[in-house]
Amino acid sequence: MMGASCLQVLLLLLLGAAGTSKSEACGQPHVSSRIVGGRDARDGEWPWQASIQHRGTHVCGGSLIAPQWVLTAAHCFPRRALLSEYRVRLGALHLGPASPRALLAPVRRVLLPPDFSEDGARGDLALLQLRCPVPLSVRVQPVCLPEPGARPPPGTPCWVTGWGSLHPGVPLPEWRPLQGVRVPLLDARTCDHLYHVGTNVPRAEHIVLPGNLCAGYVEGQKDACQGDSGGPLTCMKSGRWVLVGVVSWGKGCALPNRPGVYTNVATYIPWIQSRLSL
Ligand code: ARG
Repeated sequence: MMGASCLQVLLLLLLGAAGTSKSEACGQPHVSSRIVGGRDARDGEWPWQASIQHRGTHVCGGSLIAPQWVLTAAHCFPRRALLSEYRVRLGALHLGPASPRALLAPVRRVLLPPDFSEDGARGDLALLQLRCPVPLSVRVQPVCLPEPGARPPPGTPCWVTGWGSLHPGVPLPEWRPLQGVRVPLLDARTCDHLYHVGTNVPRAEHIVLPGNLCAGYVEGQKDACQGDSGGPLTCMKSGRWVLVGVVSWGKGCALPNRPGVYTNVATYIPWIQSRLSL
């Protein structure tokens, strides 16, 4: 059901749609990246990147997957939080006040996967239904979803993006643009192996669960950090960016043997599709 408050948006959508009929386009920014070792994103480079804001403060990242739906992490929504205090910011390059073209969307509801566990170990994913579908533009575009159960081949170029901290305890200054870093994928087993290095946790006891995947380097140095949670890990497949992971957790940031841990989106595709088609 669409409330009356969506009428304005609808009008915008209709106006904007004149001449663009590819409504199911995804994962293809109008601005393409040519970054070599760089970190600052360019305007429109990651047009699905969302900032989840609580009372006007950035708390998490997220990804636009359809005009009315954003995928983020469940742990971004503490139990007692009031839905009306959240907004989703889209189309922004930096989060400072002078980002006039950005869109601020209220949230209608938050859906958590059936296997979500309060301790954050399982199902760290949340589907946000926006109150209204957002108008798509050069800066606001959905990312593609993976095939159910798909796993990208090793060596696939993947990037994690977000407005999170530059180092633990060092927040990104407001004027700095969205950051992106290339990180290789690691499967849950390899990652679990690494997470046992230097601990006395028995090998039989999982630290990284099978519903996760990791990305990063054995030597550390490049990673997501606090404030990036919920944000996208996207990998290029046949010329499109696919949302492979959602930033979930990590021990510190960019430490050796402690890659970033992500919720494996491909595992949750049946659940996501069933919610989107209701
Ligand atoms: N949980 C953190 C957050 O709330 C993000 C963790 C990502 N950490 C990492 N080292 N990859 O923002």
